[in-house]
Amino acid sequence: MEPRKFVAPEFILREGSLELAGLYASNLDAKKVFLVTDPGVIRAGWAGKVENALAQAGLPFVVFSDVTPNPKDTEVMAGAALYLREQCDVIVAVGGGSPMDCAKGIGVVASNRENILWFEGVDQIEKPCPPLICIPTTAGTAADISQFAIITDTARKVKIAIISKVVVPDLALVDPLTTTTMPADLTAATGIDALVHAIEAYVSNANSPVTDLNALEAIRLVSRNLKGAIEHPLDLRFRNPMMLASLLAGMAFSNASLGLVHAMAHSLGGFADLPHGDCNALLLEHVVAFNFDSVPERYVSIAKAFGLEIIDLPKAEQRTRLVDALRRFRIEAGVTGGLQEMGMKKTDLAKLAENALQDPCSVTNPIQPTLQDIEMIYERAF
Ligand SMILES: [Fe+2]
Repeated sequence: MEPRKFVAPEFILREGSLELAGLYASNLDAKKVFLVTDPGVIRAGWAGKVENALAQAGLPFVVFSDVTPNPKDTEVMAGAALYLREQCDVIVAVGGGSPMDCAKGIGVVASNRENILWFEGVDQIEKPCPPLICIPTTAGTAADISQFAIITDTARKVKIAIISKVVVPDLALVDPLTTTTMPADLTAATGIDALVHAIEAYVSNANSPVTDLNALEAIRLVSRNLKGAIEHPLDLRFRNPMMLASLLAGMAFSNASLGLVHAMAHSLGGFADLPHGDCNALLLEHVVAFNFDSVPERYVSIAKAFGLEIIDLPKAEQRTRLVDALRRFRIEAGVTGGLQEMGMKKTDLAKLAENALQDPCSVTNPIQPTLQDIEMIYERAF
């Protein structure tokens, strides 16, 4: 076995862990906290709860909430300018993937004093970031766990991936209670994002025994609990395992990377500012159909974790069964339609395919796609 490195932050997974934000910021020797969030999380009340926790610990803080879905380079730069102006020294992010990725970007810029777009790619960050505590309020993105930050380059209309140990948070306070205010569509989109993280990590050409274990358990948990979380939003018997699934899938993909679903979803999200989870959900079945023959035994294991026994079937039948089950799963979760309904035009697909091929996530896909392959997969998801 090749020696492999596995990176994960310190994390606390339990109901109410959000309340520990002040204590842990103090432990990190904070003098002034920079709190990154967004308007939806403020409305849901979670940012206020973190503010209370900081105040109780006697910590002054500055709130930055000018963060939109698919966080933009301009938002990161504005946040970093405010962080420096206010002389903050610890960052706390509360929210979904957007505030957390934006917070990572702010930390990178505050320490390294260059435009965030300079840090695109793997291991491009020189200086360590200020301490970062992440408090996720969705169950899926796992930005609180991962060494990824995805930022939109607004001039080029592409998402850049920043992949570095430097952006792994110092602490994740993973509190399933925060997910109880998610509406059904966000629960579905983020839950399927977690499923895609696990599937892509498991078939990644950088997979490993440790990431495999996390990925398969995450697949099992999402397949059994997403529907319940959508139908019974306040019921922690579904929210707890979905939060665990997100965390496990996060540890898997952070260390094994992703694949073509994410490469293509990043391209769509950057080009048309579409929700990440919905893009993934619509692309997943088509990428699985394309990839299946390159690692069929891995997809049979995925099917088994998903609750499908297909091992004794002929290969073509195995692929059809798994692809159909994934399609049914997203439709039952409420993600219907295709790229056309999301406002895309056929004439956009060539450019989208070009950008997807450049995305670092396509490198770890189990089979290397051509430009034509990617365009064909977009066509099928249309
Ligand atoms: Fe994702």
